[in-house]
Amino acid sequence: MRTVPAGIARPEYALTGTPSSRQARAIRTDDELAAMRVAGRVAADALIEVGRHVRPGITTDELDRIGHEAMVAAGSYPSTLNYRGFPKSLCTSVNEVVCHGIPDSRRLQDGDIVNVDVTAFIEGVHGDTSCTFLVGHVDPASVALVARTREAMHAGISVVRPGARVRDIGKAIEESVLPHGYSIVREFIGHGIGDQFHTSLQIPHYYDPRNDTVLLPGMTFTVEPMINLGAAGVAMWDDGWTVSTVDRQRTAQFEHTVLVTEDGHELLTVPADGRPADVLFAVDPVGADARPV
Ligand code: MF3
Ligand code: CO
Ligand code: CO
Repeated sequence: MRTVPAGIARPEYALTGTPSSRQARAIRTDDELAAMRVAGRVAADALIEVGRHVRPGITTDELDRIGHEAMVAAGSYPSTLNYRGFPKSLCTSVNEVVCHGIPDSRRLQDGDIVNVDVTAFIEGVHGDTSCTFLVGHVDPASVALVARTREAMHAGISVVRPGARVRDIGKAIEESVLPHGYSIVREFIGHGIGDQFHTSLQIPHYYDPRNDTVLLPGMTFTVEPMINLGAAGVAMWDDGWTVSTVDRQRTAQFEHTVLVTEDGHELLTVPADGRPADVLFAVDPVGADARPV
C-alpha cells in the first residue's frame, strides 16, 4: 500500500480495513454538500490526470501511482486504500474485468479498454467517479460499447429529480442499452455515498419494479452501470476482488456521484471547469480512435 502523509485526514476504516456499519442519514446537510463538491472535484481531477497517462505500455500500477499522487497533492485520502483490505489507491479494470481490478505490473496493450475508478475522501466525505478509457486503437465493437455505456450512465442520471423513484434510473438505463443487444450487470450497483463510502441506499442499474424508494432533495448516490458485450453473468477471480464477465467478453463502466436537488440533480464529480473525464475523453459510438477531444 502507498503511504498517505500524516496531515491528511483518513476515513474510519483506514487502519482496520473495516468500515463503520452505522446507519447513514439519507439526506445531506448544506455543509456536507459543500464538502461533497470538494471531494467530487478532487476525484474528478485525479481521474482526468490518470486518463491523460493512459497509453499502450503503461502499467496499471503506474496509473495507480499517478492517481494516488494527485489525490494526496489535493489533500485527500484515496478512499479505496485498505477499504475492506483493498490494497491500492484506485481500481483498474481491463477488457473483460467488470470492476474492482487491482493495479499491478501488467502493461496496457494497444486495443485494450480500461476503466479507472477513483474515489477521494476529503472534508469528511467521499466523491466516487470512473471512466472507461481506450488504449490506442480499439476495435469498433469495443468503441461502441464504451460510448453506449457512457450514454447509459447519463440516461440513468437524467431521470434523477425529487419524486422520481429509484427504479426509474434502472428503467432508463435498460431502455438506453438493451436495444443495442448489451446486457447489464446485476451483482454490482450504485450506492448512497457521503461520510460513508457505501451507504445502505442501493441503486440497481436494471429495472426492479418493486423498488419504489422515492428520491428526495439532499440524497447523494452514485450511478455506475457496468454494461457487457455478451452475457450479464460475472465471476470472481481467486484474488477475492477482481470481477470478470463469466464469458470473458468485454465490459465497460462509467460512474458519477449525483445529488438530488430541489428541481432535478447536480453532478458532484466534476472538475472546476465542469468538463469531467467522460466528456474530455468521449468517443463517438462509430469512431475507432482513442484520442481525447
Ligand atoms: N469505487 C468503487 C465503487 O464505485 C468501489 C471500490 S471499493 C474497492 O463503488 F475496495 F474495490 F476499492
Ligand atoms: Co461507486
Ligand atoms: Co467507484
